[in-house]
Amino acid sequence: MTRVVVAGDANLDLVLRGDVVPRFGQAEQLLDGADLVLGSSAGICAAGLARLGMDTALVARVGSDVFGDRTRELLDEAGVDTQAVRVVDEATGVSVILSAPEDRAILTLTGALAGVTADEVLTAAEGATHVHFASYFLVPALAQALPAVLTSLRERGITTSLDTNWDPAEQWEGVAECLPLVELLLPNAAEAIALASALGEGASDVESAAKALASHGPTVIVKDGAAGGLAAIGDRVLRAPGLSLEVVDTTGAGDSFDAGFLAAWLEGRELAEALRWAAVAGSLSTRGSGGTGGQPTRAEIEAHI
Ligand SMILES: Nc1ncnc2c1ncn2[C@@H]1O[C@H](COP(=O)(O)OP(=O)(O)O)[C@@H](O)[C@H]1O
Ligand SMILES: [Mg+2]
Repeated sequence: MTRVVVAGDANLDLVLRGDVVPRFGQAEQLLDGADLVLGSSAGICAAGLARLGMDTALVARVGSDVFGDRTRELLDEAGVDTQAVRVVDEATGVSVILSAPEDRAILTLTGALAGVTADEVLTAAEGATHVHFASYFLVPALAQALPAVLTSLRERGITTSLDTNWDPAEQWEGVAECLPLVELLLPNAAEAIALASALGEGASDVESAAKALASHGPTVIVKDGAAGGLAAIGDRVLRAPGLSLEVVDTTGAGDSFDAGFLAAWLEGRELAEALRWAAVAGSLSTRGSGGTGGQPTRAEIEAHI
C-alpha cells in the first residue's frame, strides 16, 4: 500500500470573508462570514490526500492549547494519521485570512509549528512511499536540513515533492540546493516567477519560469489560479484548465491541487492526467469556505475528468 507522509506546518485558519480592507483608527467594518477551520499547507494537503483515500500521515508540531487540540481533532476527523504531530510547550500557530472575492491577505503566527525537525520527518518516513514538504519558509530547522533529508530519502527509494509556498522574507534562500534532489516542485504562478528570478533566471511569464526551474532537475507543476495549472518537464510544457464554478473561498486551493496531483501521480497516472486531477481538485476545493470544506472525493474528481 502507498503511504504518503506530509511534513511542515499545522494550524487553524480563522477565515474572514467580505469585501473589506481593514482600516485602523478604530473603524469597525462588517464581514459576510467567519469560520475557524483547518489551515496550514501541510495540514490541508494531508486532509486532501486522506479524502482521496490515500494512507496519509502528517509530521508537524502544535502546542498544548485549544488551537492545538482542535487542529489535531480536525486532522483526525479528516482521516490523517496524527501520531507524528508532536505537542510541544509553545503556542500553536494560527493564521487569520482576510478573503476577498479576487484576493486574500494572511496574518500568521508560526509559534509551535516552526520547530519541526529533520529527525521527526526521517523517523516518520519509515515505510513511506513518498514525502511531501510544505511551507518551507515557515519551518526553518527543517528547511536548513532539507538537502540532507532529500538525499537520505532518495537513497531509501522514497520519492519527494516540495511546495515552498510564499517566502515572507522574499529572499527564497536555500531552495536552489533542494531542486536537484526533489522529484516534484509545486509552486503557484507568483512563487514560480519569484523563485526563478531568485535563481538568476529572470522570467516574467509563468511558462518560462516553470521551464527555468525544471532545468535545475525537478518536474515543475505550477498552480495558475482560475486558469488551472501547468507542468514543465525538461523543455516540454503541458497545461490543464481549472473548472469554471462559483468560487466561495480560494484558501488552500493550491494545497488541494497538490493532493490531487500526488494521489494521481503516486498511483502511476501519466503526468498530463495527474495535472488534470490536480486542476480539478484545486477548483473543487474552492466550493467551500476554508481549505478543506470543499475538498473533493475521488468520484467527484473522476466525474470532471
Ligand atoms: N477562481 C478559480 N476558479 C477555478 N479554479 C480555481 C480558482 N482559483 C484557484 N483555482 C484552482 O485551485 C488551484 C490552485 O490555486 P492557486 O490560487 O493558483 O494556488 P495557491 O492556493 O497555492 O495560491 C488552481 O490551479 C485551480 O485548479
Ligand atoms: Mg500554495
